[in-house]
Amino acid sequence: MNLPKHIAIIMDGNGRWATEKGLSRSEGHLAGAKTVELVIKECLHYNIPHLSLYAFSTENWNRPKEEVNYLFELFCEFVAKELSLMQEESIRFSMVGDKSKLPESTLEALENAIQQTQHGNKLELTLALNYSGTQELLYASRQSAIKLLTNPQNLQEIQNIAQNTSALAQYFTTLFSEENYTEELFRSSLYLPNLPDPDLIIRTSGELRLSNFYLIQAAYSEFYFTQTYWPDFSEQDFAQALQAYSQRKRRFGKIEK
Ligand code: FPP
Repeated sequence: MNLPKHIAIIMDGNGRWATEKGLSRSEGHLAGAKTVELVIKECLHYNIPHLSLYAFSTENWNRPKEEVNYLFELFCEFVAKELSLMQEESIRFSMVGDKSKLPESTLEALENAIQQTQHGNKLELTLALNYSGTQELLYASRQSAIKLLTNPQNLQEIQNIAQNTSALAQYFTTLFSEENYTEELFRSSLYLPNLPDPDLIIRTSGELRLSNFYLIQAAYSEFYFTQTYWPDFSEQDFAQALQAYSQRKRRFGKIEK
């Protein structure tokens, strides 16, 4: 079976799962954390080398404070609890998103796990926290410009022509042309430049949208949508997603030979 190398999951439906059972939203997230453990085991089982989980978007800050606090407690507990499993199973933990606005205790727990698992080589597990695809694209474009402008050779040239505004304007036009401001430069400026693009993006709970996840990385991803709420997502659902993926014909804009 042709398996994806990178699966990215939009874990949706914790709240509805809980409400339908007369439980609190927090209980839904707690049940969702169990599914996270399950999909990690499934990725190890199928030798899938990269798994990304969309755990908290920049828009999720607009949820009630108690829910946000509960989620961050859950993320910290999860990382602490799973650390020994990650080490045993050679999982490399990583995170993607804007670290600057994360609570200090969360950041500490995450950085500790990143450091302790840095040599893991079976599965790279990436948690998207305080993530926004739009913000990542803005970040990458700012970083790309900074790299061009602060390159020592370019800085020298800017200094040489600093008094000549038309020469400067011409220089910047060339500096930011397609030849210099390349896709390669842009991609090298993303949050995790070494992470391959997801082959398969799964979204649970029947919603059919990307919700600001991995915008550029999803350019050629295959999508798998299921009605199942995230806490109910099972081994069988995972196997079905893999089965569906294996039947897709990926042409990347080319025609089939
Ligand atoms: C979406 O469901 C889920 C989230 C915003 C949070 C994702 C968090 C988990 C799956 C909890 C555990 C995660 C880890 C990494 C330990 P929703 O709350 O938007 O559901 P709804 O659309 O039904 O309200």
